[in-house]
Amino acid sequence: MGEMDQTYWDSIYRETPRPGWDMDGPTPILAELLDLPACRGLGPDLAVPGCGFGHDAAELARRGFRVTGVDFAPSAIQGARQRHGEQVRWRQEDWFTLEDTFDGIFDHTCFVAMAPERRAEYLAHCARRLRPGGLWLAGMFHTVTRPPGPPFAVSLEEARRLAEVRFEILHLDHATRSHPRRAGREFLMVGRALPGS
Ligand SMILES: C[S@@+](CC[C@H](N)C(=O)[O-])C[C@H]1O[C@@H](n2cnc3c(N)ncnc32)[C@H](O)[C@@H]1O
Repeated sequence: MGEMDQTYWDSIYRETPRPGWDMDGPTPILAELLDLPACRGLGPDLAVPGCGFGHDAAELARRGFRVTGVDFAPSAIQGARQRHGEQVRWRQEDWFTLEDTFDGIFDHTCFVAMAPERRAEYLAHCARRLRPGGLWLAGMFHTVTRPPGPPFAVSLEEARRLAEVRFEILHLDHATRSHPRRAGREFLMVGRALPGS
């Protein structure tokens, strides 16, 4: 597997009108996450890193959040704009270089798209992008159908071990409202950024 950089991801979007991960709509686990007691008090300003065609970002905007959708692949951001207009603030940028801060981060298939050796760095950056009390909401795969990734599976235990360095874990459990194509393979995590992380 070569480096999974901007060129790698952008070439997939350019060669495939609808990449395999794109569900042409928001993931049902977004609603499941927002309904969790752990997400009560989530502030209005959210980021969606690795937003792809932006379905989750647009759904969050529809629910009344101010949303920044970030993806470093130009074709992804172009596709997001075409599909969802300007209800979301789209940023074509590497998530690791973004300096804005948010009340919450919705992570759906971005953590699991990262090379596993970048996970700790990724979580550290997510924690730094959160304002005090900010929440990291994530849906991840504990099982993938076509290894090796991306996506890269992560066990609940490993996700906890990595995340608890930067976050107070408020919720960690299997998803119950997955898209049928992903049923039984996803789990949810909600963490509150630890002070000073
Ligand atoms: C598997 S796709 C998922 C896209 C979208 N979340 C979805 O579910 O349809 C992973 C996305 O993360 C983006 N990505 C990966 N690393 C990134 C980085 N460092 N900064 C910004 N975007 C990144 C890729 O361009 C790709 O669009």
